[in-house]
Amino acid sequence: ATEETLVLVKPDGVARGLTGAILARIEAKGYSLVDLRLVEPDRDTLEQHYAEHEGKPFYEPLLEFMMSGPSVAIRLAGNRVIEGFRSLAGTTDPTTAAPGTIRGDFGRDWGLKVQQNLVHGSDSPESAARELAIWFD
Ligand code: CMP
Repeated sequence: ATEETLVLVKPDGVARGLTGAILARIEAKGYSLVDLRLVEPDRDTLEQHYAEHEGKPFYEPLLEFMMSGPSVAIRLAGNRVIEGFRSLAGTTDPTTAAPGTIRGDFGRDWGLKVQQNLVHGSDSPESAARELAIWFD
């Protein structure tokens, strides 16, 4: 069924000038941009977004990284887009993400504490609804 997902081009993707390349892949795949904006999220927004990771070792560095510069937030629509975008993005660790994916082609481990993996995509319909409300309402 047609569904919506939250995609973020994270601060590393924006800073490296990869927003256009990432959007080109999303558009070439045929998904629809419903809304898109450049955002500099505050801590409160990020605590809500990453609530499930609170207490994990990478939580604080992740929040710091996500506040290090602007991200592009995208409301993306399409048939099975939640699963489809995660496939386009590749696995979480950019070093081992498959070539052909956004993370596999553009990302790697830069030796920093946080995995700067270029993009975020909601992982379920429940997450998508929750996250879209955080970033777009
Ligand atoms: P994301 O899909 O946005 O969801 C959680 C984020 O935590 C993940 O992408 C990475 O940016 C970050 N992260 C950092 N270290 C880890 C780790 N060891 N495992 C999972 N996610 C991590």
